[in-house]
Amino acid sequence: MYKFFLLVFVMAVAIAGLGQTNRFTPGQVWTDDKGEVINAHGGGILWDKGRYYWFGEKRDRQLSRGVNVYSSKDLYHWKYEGEALSLSRDSTSEIAEGCVMERPKVIYNRKTGKYVLWFHLELRGQGYKAARAAVAVSDRVTGPYRYIRSFRPNENMSRDMTLFVDDDGSAYHIYSSRENYDLRIARLSDDYLSVTSADSLIARDHQEAPAVFKYQGGYYLITSGCTGWAPNKASLYTSASIFGPWQRRGNPMRGKNADLTFGGQSAYVLPLPGKKSDFIFIADQWNPKDLKDSRYLWLPVRWKDGLPYVEWKDQWSLAYTNAD
Ligand code: DGJ
Repeated sequence: MYKFFLLVFVMAVAIAGLGQTNRFTPGQVWTDDKGEVINAHGGGILWDKGRYYWFGEKRDRQLSRGVNVYSSKDLYHWKYEGEALSLSRDSTSEIAEGCVMERPKVIYNRKTGKYVLWFHLELRGQGYKAARAAVAVSDRVTGPYRYIRSFRPNENMSRDMTLFVDDDGSAYHIYSSRENYDLRIARLSDDYLSVTSADSLIARDHQEAPAVFKYQGGYYLITSGCTGWAPNKASLYTSASIFGPWQRRGNPMRGKNADLTFGGQSAYVLPLPGKKSDFIFIADQWNPKDLKDSRYLWLPVRWKDGLPYVEWKDQWSLAYTNAD
């Protein structure tokens, strides 16, 4: 008899589990295939050969611990693939323990067949003074990535950043510069390993946390204000061309707590492959006392009158899509 109850109990747990996991629950603890809390902050997602790869900052309570990578087929369930980029054991390296690695993004270069990782690097013991972009490369999507170097793009300070690859394969580094008072964009070299001199101002606004996406030939940029780890109001910029002119269009967040981006800060906007108008807005809800415990906000991007907006949802699934 007890075997029957055990079977019913196991089935009930399995059914409840299935129901619970095929949805996003913004701000709740998110665990990987091993039951460990996902540690991939300020990150970005690469769609590669039928799988998604989530790269993000590996953090302990405060320190940077390298760049983690997870993989998934459905965006709900994530397998831990390990450290894509590890801290160097050589204490003279720029990426030795004590450095700060933020906002890692990986793109694939079709010409060279290499995966290229960019991130914001601060040097050990210098706070946020160095303001450099850093580059690493790998033959395999999950790494290990080989650290190449860091620099200031065209001599400009470079803190919060993202990468964007356009339909023609040209790639761009979008970054906060001049003590975060300028937002800039620089075109990458053909191998994606450095910037070209095509580097221009997006806006003379005090903004960071850039996330860029493209929809129906137009370019969209979501940013945050600059208040350290504390949440603030997001901004949307639009442009018909990647080098601008960019127009500021106000806060794209809607509903309760929208003026504080629901307690989060933009990290990335993920286009859903095969869907014309579906994007996921990805943000970090930082916990500055314990950065590894910072939570993730994944929310659907909706469209109204040709502009994107993001509304809070306690939970949602990919079935909740724009009609296309
Ligand atoms: C806000 C940035 O967006 C984060 O990536 C991080 O640099 C914090 N500031 C540090 O205060």
